[in-house]
Amino acid sequence: MADLDTPEKLKTELLAEVAAADSLAVLEEVRVRALGQNGAVTRLMKALGQLPPEERKAQGQANNAVKVAVSEAIEARKAALEAAALDARLAHERIDVTLPPRPEAQGFVHPISQTMDELMAIFGEMGFTVAEGPDIEDDFHNFTALNIPEEHPARQMHDTFYFPADGDGQAKLLRTHTSPVQIRTMMTSPPPHRIVAPGRTYRCDSDLTHTPMFHQIEGLVIDKSTHMGHLKGCLEDFCRAYFEMDDLPLRFRPSYFPFTEPSCEVDIGCSRAGGELKIGAGDDWLEILGAGMVHPNVLANCGLDAGEWQGFAFGLGIERVAMLKYGIPDLRTFFETDLRWLRHYGFAALDQPSLIGGLAR
Ligand code: DAH
Repeated sequence: MADLDTPEKLKTELLAEVAAADSLAVLEEVRVRALGQNGAVTRLMKALGQLPPEERKAQGQANNAVKVAVSEAIEARKAALEAAALDARLAHERIDVTLPPRPEAQGFVHPISQTMDELMAIFGEMGFTVAEGPDIEDDFHNFTALNIPEEHPARQMHDTFYFPADGDGQAKLLRTHTSPVQIRTMMTSPPPHRIVAPGRTYRCDSDLTHTPMFHQIEGLVIDKSTHMGHLKGCLEDFCRAYFEMDDLPLRFRPSYFPFTEPSCEVDIGCSRAGGELKIGAGDDWLEILGAGMVHPNVLANCGLDAGEWQGFAFGLGIERVAMLKYGIPDLRTFFETDLRWLRHYGFAALDQPSLIGGLAR
């Protein structure tokens, strides 16, 4: 047994190596060196056979005690190293549930959409339904049927965008106002009518107060006895509801539009003292919409008997009333798609007025 350590010495050495193993890989090496096929403890066991029989029992028990002690020490060390590895991983991969969540990107409702919704909600409360028409119109609906014949000077005032003429010489155009929806409404369904038509309109015009694309809302009421008093009451109620001022001063001023007779423009009271515009106060006036009794020629162009049906129409610019109500100073910023502008002037999606009154009726 000269080349073999005594069991006690071997045990002490191996237990020290187990205790010093600082990783599972090192521990596995120690295990193979001790208990593997050619390990020190295994060799000790194999050597038993060469001993005289009377020594074998005692030596066998001593060897066995080494094997058990080393095996148990390896198992214990293995469990300790695994637990430490798990602790290290947990510390490293820990989720900090107290961290605030990343803010969700929130969109904003554009002031044009907001204003359109408000306008539809107000007219909806008054019993109007919403009608729509195409952005690409023809000459008949945009002009002729509205009592604006060719060569009429009003056509020049509209700075129309025309498409190239088609085969039969007719050029489509981008509608210059929402008034053609009046014509489409009267030509496609029988009276009475009570509609508002919000939408995009286009004119070849671009400066501080004009953009080539802008928005209008059109109104049309046709019935048997609708008169100028209804026009006045309806537009007064509307202006006061929209500007949220029960005593908003209003002025109905005679005007001219080819498609209404008589025609008027509606001004709201304001003050411009010190260069600052204040709505509802002072002795100045600000024009906000055009209106009038629908011209008998327009009714006739739509196949209605002007002796039986009559009514009023109105039209207003959405950007204009949005700027006035929300203090937006520059028209062109509406369409610059600047997110900083939208964050400042936009509306939270949940602040929308209810449209139930308008769309359900
Ligand atoms: N269409 C007119 C414009 O764009 C606005 C307008 C005026 C519409 C009087 C109307 C109305 O329905 O009666 O300038």
